[in-house]
Amino acid sequence: MDIRPLGLDPSHCLIGAEWIAPKSGQTLPLINPSDGTALCDIAAGDAEDINAAVASARAAFEGPWGRATAVERGRVLARIGQLVLEHKDELARLEALDVGKPYKQAMADVVALARYMEFYAGAADKLHGQTIPYLDGYTVYTLREPHGVTGHIIPWNYPMQIIGRSVGAALAVGNACVLKPAEEACLTALAFGELARRAGLPAGALNVVPGAGAQAGAALSAHEDVDHLSFTGSVGVGKLIQTSAAENIVPVTLELGGKSPQVVFEDADFDAALPFLVNAGIQNAGQTCSASSRILVHESRFDELLNAMSGRYTSLKAGPALDDLDVGPLVSQRQKQIVEGFIAKGGDLELAASGEIVGDAPEGGAYVAPRLFACHEPDHTLAQDEVFGPVQVVIPFRDEDHAVAIANGTRYGLVASCWTRDGARQMRLARKLRAGQVFLNNYGAGGGVELPFGGTGLSGHGREKGFEALYGFTSLKTVAAYHG
Ligand code: NAI
Ligand code: MG
Repeated sequence: MDIRPLGLDPSHCLIGAEWIAPKSGQTLPLINPSDGTALCDIAAGDAEDINAAVASARAAFEGPWGRATAVERGRVLARIGQLVLEHKDELARLEALDVGKPYKQAMADVVALARYMEFYAGAADKLHGQTIPYLDGYTVYTLREPHGVTGHIIPWNYPMQIIGRSVGAALAVGNACVLKPAEEACLTALAFGELARRAGLPAGALNVVPGAGAQAGAALSAHEDVDHLSFTGSVGVGKLIQTSAAENIVPVTLELGGKSPQVVFEDADFDAALPFLVNAGIQNAGQTCSASSRILVHESRFDELLNAMSGRYTSLKAGPALDDLDVGPLVSQRQKQIVEGFIAKGGDLELAASGEIVGDAPEGGAYVAPRLFACHEPDHTLAQDEVFGPVQVVIPFRDEDHAVAIANGTRYGLVASCWTRDGARQMRLARKLRAGQVFLNNYGAGGGVELPFGGTGLSGHGREKGFEALYGFTSLKTVAAYHG
């Protein structure tokens, strides 16, 4: 099977206008999680390659890319978006093989990547400063300026979507980027680099260096010539990135996942809620930062909802990504072990229902059957910690205050939703739920290019997506002119 993205050698890095082998000559194997076979070798970039990439980004920022007008930046992003759509089948297949996500879900990510390019193409020339009334004889105004070189360390769960929201916004406002994709899945990051090149993005405006986190990732986050860091991934590595950012006093955006609740009141439309409740837990095999892993339901309808969700769970099928079932494999055997460890910790809970791994799923694949647990202890590990697998718990609550206390009772705060027909309750919950996004009578795991996104608490800080991201990728300059 040809998995060379757009005909590229996947063991090369994009530095400046060139695809080149990492200086060390080292590679890492890329595994197909659907069957455990090796897909290809990727570059094991290290500090030397990161240095070259940062230097190339700096030169682009000081050179043609830094001088490009907002209109020119918008046009090149629009061309990238067009190319993404022209290559959508190839990109979806690469993402499906690499991440293990069912083909249809991978295709949705391709479309989201194109949408990010379209959105930020349109936004590039619409970021305005202000004029500020000041003392007599002064005119004061603000300029939104790019930081310079931005470092983007992204995970394996949604490579295309996270490239779109992070690199797309950074480029729109004129930063030059160094992208370090995850060692588990980086083929679409390579393809994106090539499409950007073909679209006419000036050399060095985007550099792509795959490699291990502890080498390429650590080198990028510690680099003294990087002006902003954006990271999506685990809390543990987020702390390391924030520490590196502190050393260099650079701003950092962290998106570290969550334990996002959906709160279902007794008056909710269960039929409307049901597909959202389950999909938000099993989409991408639960490996979604905004996965909804906790379903809170009023005690009067607990049994009814648990039964309805169980009905769905028993029909869920897990199998190879290209078979396009409900759930693919997890990204790796390592992730499978993490998730199985959590499932074992649920041994003292009632297992309400399981999905099924299809009989012909290859032995070497990283499959985990989806699990639904009933949970009467909101402090249980499965109700507190991010599992990052197809596992949900259903928790009863007594009344609104109790629901809010449970919903807000973890250290995370990324997304939450509230299902109720009571308008006043919707408004109260929207304010009380601790989360960067609150959905009322819907849930948008990973969706919404236009919607500012990010967390509080252990979920991180800073906002990506939507127009808001453009503020994070710029720094504000105030100009005070005295003219008498
Ligand atoms: P990770 O945080 O190690 O990986 C994310 C990215 O960080 C990858 O590109 C990796 O190469 C890089 N990285 C790793 N160590 C680094 C270091 N020392 N310096 C700089 N960059 C480094 O996440 P991992 O180990 O793949 O997954 C473990 C858990 O993290 C998951 O079970 C899940 O709970 C959470 N996670 C959350 C994500 C989210 O979307 N918020 C995405 C991926 C993982
Ligand atoms: Mg790790």
